[in-house]
Amino acid sequence: MSGIRVVGLGAALPEKIVTNAAFAARLDTTDAWIAERTGILERRMGGTTSSLATQAGAAALANSGIDPADIDLLVLATSSPDQLMPATACTVQQALGISGGAFDVNAACTGFVYAMVSAAGIMAIGARRAMVIGSDVLSTMTDPNDRNTAVLFGDGAGAVILETVDDGPGNLLAWDLAADGSTRHLLYIDHGGYLQMDGKEVFRRAVRVFVDSAQKTLRDAGLTPDDVALLVPHQANSRIIGAACDRLGISLERTAVNLDRVGNTSAGSIPLALADAVAEGRLHDGDVVLMVGFGAGMTWASVALKWGP
Ligand code: COA
Repeated sequence: MSGIRVVGLGAALPEKIVTNAAFAARLDTTDAWIAERTGILERRMGGTTSSLATQAGAAALANSGIDPADIDLLVLATSSPDQLMPATACTVQQALGISGGAFDVNAACTGFVYAMVSAAGIMAIGARRAMVIGSDVLSTMTDPNDRNTAVLFGDGAGAVILETVDDGPGNLLAWDLAADGSTRHLLYIDHGGYLQMDGKEVFRRAVRVFVDSAQKTLRDAGLTPDDVALLVPHQANSRIIGAACDRLGISLERTAVNLDRVGNTSAGSIPLALADAVAEGRLHDGDVVLMVGFGAGMTWASVALKWGP
């Protein structure tokens, strides 16, 4: 079996910025309420899941210098696919000229971590290079007039390229995937409907599963929270991130946070925050990165990676 390493990273955001003030102008809400209760100041809206995914994937290809024809697997995490069928991954595969298999993964906001672990599993049995994308346009699936949900979500995508490492265990140190379908009523979208959410209960459970999953992955990797150079959490609410960091013993200085500028971009959230942290020079070769996601299902997952070659 082969290990993996990350050799490319890309991000894509729509141009249109929607500020809290824009919501306050038409809903019973205020900039201060949204900022204090969620940490979000603005979010981006626009595009489609495939267009944002294609843009992020193209950026990751350029970043890696790898020819798309040399990629033999595309895994796209999304819960807002362009169509119910075929998979949005097929649209992206054609647009980028990637060869090999292409499929979607739906684990809601946890999707990117699920997709990365799925790709690593297929690479362990023979695929050489994979593109993993998280892309969502949940702004199109939230009721624009529902202050409880509309202010939370933005659109965006992030992508990584993974390469097989033959001469060692690779850089994926440990992982955890989990789900509890008995809580699926807490956050869902019916066909043709808008996103429905029990925000308080999602919040309460998110903090708990975040901490449990992060601790399990660190334990499996033989690491402690002190070994983590950068925590990349799902960007849903700054208070969820703060509470989880407190309980884990990882300071906010070692945590990637960009939800103030992009809101909750669902499957796009973790790779977008990772891309921002890398652009800010916050990751160095050999650093341990811990990514932790949670979302509808409920699902939750984490993965510990060593950064660099
Ligand atoms: N502006 C003003 N008031 C709002 C509001 C908004 N945008 N959204 C909700 N409220 C109101 C509620 O209607 C409620 O009013 P009520 O008491 O009159 O019914 C009040 O604020 C308090 O609601 P509460 O649920 O206690 O607020 P909260 O502190 O829990 O914050 C969330 C609400 C949604 C921000 C928070 O629960 C949350 O972030 N939950 C997790 C959601 C999430 O991340 N989902 C995606 C997971 S991947």
